[in-house]
Amino acid sequence: MIVVFLGPPGAGKGTQCQRLVERYGVKHLSSGDCLRRERQKNTDLGRRAQGYMDSGQLAPDDLIVAMMTQEIAAADGQAGVVLDGFPRTLAQARELDQALGGGGKKVDVALNLEVADDKLELRITGRRSCPQCGAAYHVAFNPPRKPGVCDRDGAVLVQRSDDTPEVVRNRIRTYHRQTAPLVDYYQRKGNLRRIDGNVEIGSVTQAMFGVLDLLVA
Ligand code: AP5
Repeated sequence: MIVVFLGPPGAGKGTQCQRLVERYGVKHLSSGDCLRRERQKNTDLGRRAQGYMDSGQLAPDDLIVAMMTQEIAAADGQAGVVLDGFPRTLAQARELDQALGGGGKKVDVALNLEVADDKLELRITGRRSCPQCGAAYHVAFNPPRKPGVCDRDGAVLVQRSDDTPEVVRNRIRTYHRQTAPLVDYYQRKGNLRRIDGNVEIGSVTQAMFGVLDLLVA
């Protein structure tokens, strides 16, 4: 099963992906997490992506496509993959189709997590993330059991450097300009499913399972 997870920044893609992993045993591949790991390791790729990420712009397509096609190839043999944050431009979507097609595969479903813009900033600025396992919490909507500490591994939670109000607004603008057209792209292919992401986390999860259970049945 190959799932593409679309949605604006802060929609809840990462949060829901954790639940997909638990239910379906798929591999979660987040382009943002991959880039943050590259930055942490101070690789050439990480250094090249840094300025784009810190200003809320997209990193160049060629860097991202090379990185993500490698990640997807490395996940071969798993129950499936859920792609979180990739593709993010039409060029990336076409490259992904081509790369999958070469191996006789395709995107099975594109889930579009729809959330109103006015909710996104509050969600993102209240987010706290685990630097070890990547789990995302929210100080009000999804707090950890012990404030500031990851429930899973006890690591001290951190705030992402691009989660400031100014950068968030830029990320939302970038989303509308460059990523929203992918909704039409997958709609035309007939594999788009819309999920209302405005409601509380558990209800979003149930809606998503409703779509994917049919696919794996
Ligand atoms: P990336 O890391 O992908 O960030 P993003 O798309 O902006 O998405 P987020 O991780 O911010 O949000 P999310 O939807 O995962 O929300 P979450 O579940 O955490 O990208 C970062 C940067 O990397 C980009 O700006 C770009 O520079 C670069 N990049 C990445 N991919 C690229 C690509 N393909 N091409 C080019 N450049 C690329 O939830 C957010 C918060 O809300 C959490 O606190 C959570 O607890 C809370 N929450 C979740 N759901 C709900 C709910 N239903 N109700 C209330 N609160 C909720």
